[in-house]
Amino acid sequence: MKKILIAIDGYSSCGKSTMAKTLAKQIGYTYIDSGAMYRAATLFCLQNNLFAGGELNGEALKKRLPDLHISFEENRETGLSETFLNGENVERRIRSMEIAAKVSPVAAVGFVREEMVKQQQAMGLGKGIVMDGRDIGTVVFPDAELKIFVTASPEIRAQRRLAELTAKGEKTTFEEVLHNLTERDYIDSTRKDGPLRQAEDAVVLDNSDLTIAEQNQYLLKLFKERI
Ligand code: CDP
Repeated sequence: MKKILIAIDGYSSCGKSTMAKTLAKQIGYTYIDSGAMYRAATLFCLQNNLFAGGELNGEALKKRLPDLHISFEENRETGLSETFLNGENVERRIRSMEIAAKVSPVAAVGFVREEMVKQQQAMGLGKGIVMDGRDIGTVVFPDAELKIFVTASPEIRAQRRLAELTAKGEKTTFEEVLHNLTERDYIDSTRKDGPLRQAEDAVVLDNSDLTIAEQNQYLLKLFKERI
């Protein structure tokens, strides 16, 4: 059967990765979490002291960029893909609030985006990919056969992310999470390169009142229509 590209974009913490992961598994496609790449790049900046003085040192980052290697590997026990930064498994670390607080300024840097987009496009060459992010349907795969733009109310998104972080043992509050995702949405939507916006041919999905099972049924229906 012919394989297609599926692009899932949308606001922070609206469950894009859950839906993309589930869909990919059901249809035998590869799931790629583009946000994990920006999160890993942010960890790289922290590890290399590139936030000294509070601001990202863009010049220094540009020089160090050739030393930034991000890859994904499947965890044999869970069957889930995990993120590696220069050979080290950073999957857990990149999901922290510390990274969430710094990722959007890193993701707004033009040369960082250029490099990430290049790698993401290479991953899509054979099709059969479900990729989620902010600019997948607009910049990375503008010709994707199925594009979905996901949204949900900020309060619901903050509640979902808080539950996820708390389950992992991270100490944070509803207010802190809500503030972080509102700020990221603002920076992501207003940046010059690859801003978060809905592709004209994307299907909009507000999942505020949908269960994961309902949302998945809907996505499967869209996929079958496209294929
Ligand atoms: O899961 P969550 O919605 O918190 O975010 P994520 O998908 O892990 O992405 C983290 C951050 O990476 C976003 O807030 C964006 O700043 C950036 N990002 C991006 O700029 N472009 C993408 N394609 C994916 C993520």
